[in-house]
Amino acid sequence: MPEPRELVVRPVGEDERAAWDPLWDGYLTFYKTVLPHNVSDVTWQRLHDPAEPIFILGAYADDKLTGFAHYLFHRSTWAPNWYCYLEDLFVADGARGLGAGRVLIEAVCEKARLAGANRVYWLTHETNAQARLLYDKVADNLGFIQYRRMI
Ligand SMILES: CC(C)(COP(=O)(O)OP(=O)(O)OC[C@H]1O[C@@H](n2cnc3c(N)ncnc32)[C@H](O)[C@@H]1OP(=O)(O)O)[C@@H](O)C(=O)NCCC(=O)NCCS
Repeated sequence: MPEPRELVVRPVGEDERAAWDPLWDGYLTFYKTVLPHNVSDVTWQRLHDPAEPIFILGAYADDKLTGFAHYLFHRSTWAPNWYCYLEDLFVADGARGLGAGRVLIEAVCEKARLAGANRVYWLTHETNAQARLLYDKVADNLGFIQYRRMI
Protein backbone atom coordinates (compact mmCIF):
# COMPACT_ATOMS: atom_id res chain seq x y z
CA MET A 1 0.00 0.00 0.00
CA PRO A 2 1.40 3.47 -0.88
CA GLU A 3 1.71 5.89 2.01
CA PRO A 4 -1.23 8.31 2.14
CA ARG A 5 -0.06 11.71 0.95
CA GLU A 6 -0.31 14.67 3.27
CA LEU A 7 -2.91 17.10 1.97
CA VAL A 8 -2.65 20.74 3.03
CA VAL A 9 -4.91 23.62 1.96
CA ARG A 10 -3.60 27.16 2.15
CA PRO A 11 -3.63 30.40 0.13
CA VAL A 12 -1.38 30.24 -2.92
CA GLY A 13 1.34 32.89 -2.63
CA GLU A 14 2.05 35.50 -5.26
CA ASP A 15 5.47 33.92 -5.82
CA GLU A 16 3.86 30.61 -6.84
CA ARG A 17 2.72 31.61 -10.31
CA ALA A 18 4.91 28.95 -11.93
CA ALA A 19 3.04 26.25 -10.00
CA TRP A 20 -0.40 27.75 -10.70
CA ASP A 21 0.10 28.33 -14.45
CA PRO A 22 0.00 24.67 -15.56
CA LEU A 23 -3.05 23.97 -13.38
CA TRP A 24 -4.83 27.07 -14.70
CA ASP A 25 -3.96 25.96 -18.26
CA GLY A 26 -5.37 22.51 -17.44
CA TYR A 27 -8.58 24.07 -16.19
CA LEU A 28 -8.96 26.26 -19.28
CA THR A 29 -8.24 23.25 -21.50
CA PHE A 30 -10.90 21.30 -19.61
CA TYR A 31 -13.31 24.09 -20.59
CA LYS A 32 -11.88 24.19 -24.15
CA THR A 33 -11.03 27.82 -23.58
CA VAL A 34 -8.06 29.97 -24.44
CA LEU A 35 -7.68 33.28 -22.64
CA PRO A 36 -5.46 36.13 -23.75
CA HIS A 37 -2.33 36.06 -21.57
CA ASN A 38 -3.12 39.46 -20.08
CA VAL A 39 -6.41 38.11 -18.65
CA SER A 40 -4.50 35.47 -16.68
CA ASP A 41 -2.06 38.17 -15.58
CA VAL A 42 -4.89 40.38 -14.32
CA THR A 43 -6.55 37.43 -12.59
CA TRP A 44 -3.33 36.45 -10.85
CA GLN A 45 -2.70 40.04 -9.77
CA ARG A 46 -6.25 40.40 -8.42
CA LEU A 47 -6.07 37.11 -6.55
CA HIS A 48 -3.26 38.68 -4.52
CA ASP A 49 -4.53 42.24 -4.22
CA PRO A 50 -5.99 42.83 -0.73
CA ALA A 51 -8.28 45.48 -2.25
CA GLU A 52 -9.98 42.89 -4.48
CA PRO A 53 -12.75 40.54 -3.19
CA ILE A 54 -11.34 37.54 -5.04
CA PHE A 55 -9.19 34.83 -3.46
CA ILE A 56 -7.29 31.63 -4.10
CA LEU A 57 -6.74 28.51 -2.04
CA GLY A 58 -4.44 25.70 -3.12
CA ALA A 59 -4.38 22.02 -2.23
CA TYR A 60 -0.84 20.75 -1.68
CA ALA A 61 0.01 17.05 -1.70
CA ASP A 62 3.43 16.51 -0.19
CA ASP A 63 4.06 20.25 -0.65
CA LYS A 64 3.24 20.23 -4.38
CA LEU A 65 0.33 22.34 -5.63
CA THR A 66 -2.18 19.87 -7.07
CA GLY A 67 -5.40 21.88 -7.14
CA PHE A 68 -6.94 25.29 -6.60
CA ALA A 69 -10.18 27.04 -5.79
CA HIS A 70 -10.89 30.65 -6.79
CA TYR A 71 -13.70 32.32 -4.91
CA LEU A 72 -15.14 35.79 -4.47
CA PHE A 73 -17.64 37.67 -2.34
CA HIS A 74 -20.55 39.76 -3.54
CA ARG A 75 -23.61 41.53 -2.17
CA SER A 76 -27.13 40.16 -2.37
CA THR A 77 -30.60 41.65 -2.29
CA TRP A 78 -31.72 38.57 -0.39
CA ALA A 79 -29.52 38.79 2.67
CA PRO A 80 -27.54 41.28 4.70
CA ASN A 81 -24.57 38.91 4.54
CA TRP A 82 -22.06 38.39 1.76
CA TYR A 83 -22.56 35.59 -0.71
CA CYS A 84 -19.53 33.59 -1.73
CA TYR A 85 -19.23 32.38 -5.31
CA LEU A 86 -16.82 29.51 -5.92
CA GLU A 87 -15.87 30.37 -9.49
CA ASP A 88 -13.17 27.82 -10.36
CA LEU A 89 -12.25 24.46 -8.90
CA PHE A 90 -9.59 22.23 -10.39
CA VAL A 91 -7.49 19.25 -9.34
CA ALA A 92 -4.65 17.98 -11.55
CA ASP A 93 -5.44 14.81 -13.45
CA GLY A 94 -3.04 12.58 -11.55
CA ALA A 95 -4.23 13.85 -8.17
CA ARG A 96 -7.97 13.28 -8.54
CA GLY A 97 -10.06 11.04 -6.34
CA LEU A 98 -7.79 11.61 -3.33
CA GLY A 99 -9.96 14.14 -1.56
CA ALA A 100 -8.38 17.40 -2.77
CA GLY A 101 -11.58 18.69 -4.39
CA ARG A 102 -13.57 17.99 -1.27
CA VAL A 103 -11.10 19.69 1.09
CA LEU A 104 -10.89 22.72 -1.20
CA ILE A 105 -14.68 23.12 -1.08
CA GLU A 106 -14.70 22.69 2.70
CA ALA A 107 -11.88 25.24 3.06
CA VAL A 108 -13.71 27.80 0.89
CA CYS A 109 -16.83 27.28 3.02
CA GLU A 110 -14.82 27.91 6.16
CA LYS A 111 -13.25 31.09 4.70
CA ALA A 112 -16.72 32.25 3.69
CA ARG A 113 -18.10 31.57 7.15
CA LEU A 114 -15.26 33.53 8.72
CA ALA A 115 -15.91 36.42 6.31
CA GLY A 116 -19.54 36.59 7.41
CA ALA A 117 -21.05 35.02 4.31
CA ASN A 118 -24.00 32.74 4.72
CA ARG A 119 -23.94 31.06 1.34
CA VAL A 120 -21.35 29.43 -0.91
CA TYR A 121 -22.56 28.46 -4.35
CA TRP A 122 -21.12 27.32 -7.65
CA LEU A 123 -22.12 26.25 -11.15
CA THR A 124 -21.28 23.25 -13.19
CA HIS A 125 -22.36 21.87 -16.51
CA GLU A 126 -25.03 19.20 -16.21
CA THR A 127 -22.78 16.78 -18.12
CA ASN A 128 -19.86 17.16 -15.69
CA ALA A 129 -20.52 13.81 -14.07
CA GLN A 130 -17.19 13.62 -12.22
CA ALA A 131 -17.66 16.97 -10.52
CA ARG A 132 -21.28 16.22 -9.73
CA LEU A 133 -20.30 13.02 -7.93
CA LEU A 134 -18.50 15.26 -5.47
CA TYR A 135 -21.00 18.14 -5.46
CA ASP A 136 -23.97 15.89 -4.75
CA LYS A 137 -22.18 14.78 -1.58
CA VAL A 138 -21.39 18.23 -0.21
CA ALA A 139 -24.19 20.56 -1.35
CA ASP A 140 -27.74 20.75 -2.68
CA ASN A 141 -28.72 20.95 -6.32
CA LEU A 142 -31.71 23.31 -6.32
CA GLY A 143 -32.39 22.86 -10.02
CA PHE A 144 -31.52 26.34 -11.26
CA ILE A 145 -30.26 26.70 -14.82
CA GLN A 146 -28.07 29.50 -16.09
CA TYR A 147 -28.94 31.94 -18.90
CA ARG A 148 -26.19 34.00 -20.43
CA ARG A 149 -26.16 36.86 -22.89
CA MET A 150 -22.90 38.33 -24.07
CA ILE A 151 -22.91 42.14 -24.22
C1 LIG B 1 -14.22 17.94 -9.97
C2 LIG B 1 -12.84 17.80 -9.33
C3 LIG B 1 -12.38 19.17 -8.83
C4 LIG B 1 -12.96 16.83 -8.13
O1 LIG B 1 -11.72 16.82 -7.46
P1 LIG B 1 -11.17 15.49 -6.75
O2 LIG B 1 -10.00 15.90 -5.95
O3 LIG B 1 -10.97 14.44 -7.74
O4 LIG B 1 -12.41 15.12 -5.83
P2 LIG B 1 -12.32 14.30 -4.46
O5 LIG B 1 -11.22 13.32 -4.54
O6 LIG B 1 -12.33 15.27 -3.34
O7 LIG B 1 -13.70 13.54 -4.53
C5 LIG B 1 -14.67 13.73 -3.56
C6 LIG B 1 -15.74 12.70 -3.73
O8 LIG B 1 -16.25 12.56 -5.05
C7 LIG B 1 -16.08 11.23 -5.49
N1 LIG B 1 -15.42 11.23 -6.78
C8 LIG B 1 -14.68 12.17 -7.34
N2 LIG B 1 -14.23 11.79 -8.55
C9 LIG B 1 -14.73 10.54 -8.72
C10 LIG B 1 -14.65 9.58 -9.76
N3 LIG B 1 -13.95 9.83 -10.87
N4 LIG B 1 -15.27 8.42 -9.61
C11 LIG B 1 -15.96 8.15 -8.47
N5 LIG B 1 -16.07 9.01 -7.45
C12 LIG B 1 -15.47 10.19 -7.58
C13 LIG B 1 -15.19 10.53 -4.55
O9 LIG B 1 -15.72 9.25 -4.33
C14 LIG B 1 -15.20 11.36 -3.33
O10 LIG B 1 -16.13 10.90 -2.41
P3 LIG B 1 -15.64 10.42 -0.96
O11 LIG B 1 -14.82 11.57 -0.40
O12 LIG B 1 -16.92 10.21 -0.24
O13 LIG B 1 -14.84 9.20 -1.22
C15 LIG B 1 -11.81 17.21 -10.32
O14 LIG B 1 -12.32 16.01 -10.84
C16 LIG B 1 -11.49 18.15 -11.47
O15 LIG B 1 -10.65 19.04 -11.36
N6 LIG B 1 -12.14 17.93 -12.63
C17 LIG B 1 -11.87 18.71 -13.82
C18 LIG B 1 -12.29 20.18 -13.68
C19 LIG B 1 -13.69 20.34 -13.17
O16 LIG B 1 -14.62 19.65 -13.57
N7 LIG B 1 -13.83 21.30 -12.26
C20 LIG B 1 -15.11 21.62 -11.68
C21 LIG B 1 -15.81 22.53 -12.59
S1 LIG B 1 -17.39 23.01 -11.97
